[in-house]
This record gives sequence, structure tokens and C-alpha cells, in this order.
Amino acid sequence: MTSCSIKFGKFEFKANEGDLLLFSLMKEGIYTQGINQKRKRGGFCGMGVCQECLVELSNGKDTLACQTIIQGDMEIIDYE
Ligand code: FES
Repeated sequence: MTSCSIKFGKFEFKANEGDLLLFSLMKEGIYTQGINQKRKRGGFCGMGVCQECLVELSNGKDTLACQTIIQGDMEIIDYE
């Protein structure tokens, strides 16, 4: 199992390659921003419908954390 570095604003932690991003964030107690990006949200549906797990990656792309498999180091923008 390969370990990846996940950076989310001021938080940085290790996660396993192949794990879902949403569950790795939840395990660390980190909330997502959701579609309106105005308050802390978390995953709700876990199947790509509710958009509550939407995050913006450092490359400018938005992704649903519940549909994103960790495939290497990642950096996520934190709007706080
Ligand atoms: S948790 Fe609902 S879209 Fe990801």
C-alpha cells in the first residue's frame, strides 16, 4: 500500500493510495466546503449526487471527494 500526502489548507496527513478522498478527509475530521463554499459541509450521499463533498484542487479543478480515488499526493484549497 502506497502512502500519499494530502494537504488541505493548514492540515496535512497521510492517506493510502486507492482510498476514497472523502473517507480519508472524514477520518481526519476535515470537512469539505460543498457547492456553495460558504460553510463547512461533509459528505452526505456518498454517491456523487448531493455535491456536499465538492472540493477544489490546487490545479484549479473541482472534484467530488466521494468520487475521487487517491492516486498520489494531493493539495486541496481551503477557503477559510
Ligand atoms: S457525498 Fe454527495 S456528492 Fe459526494
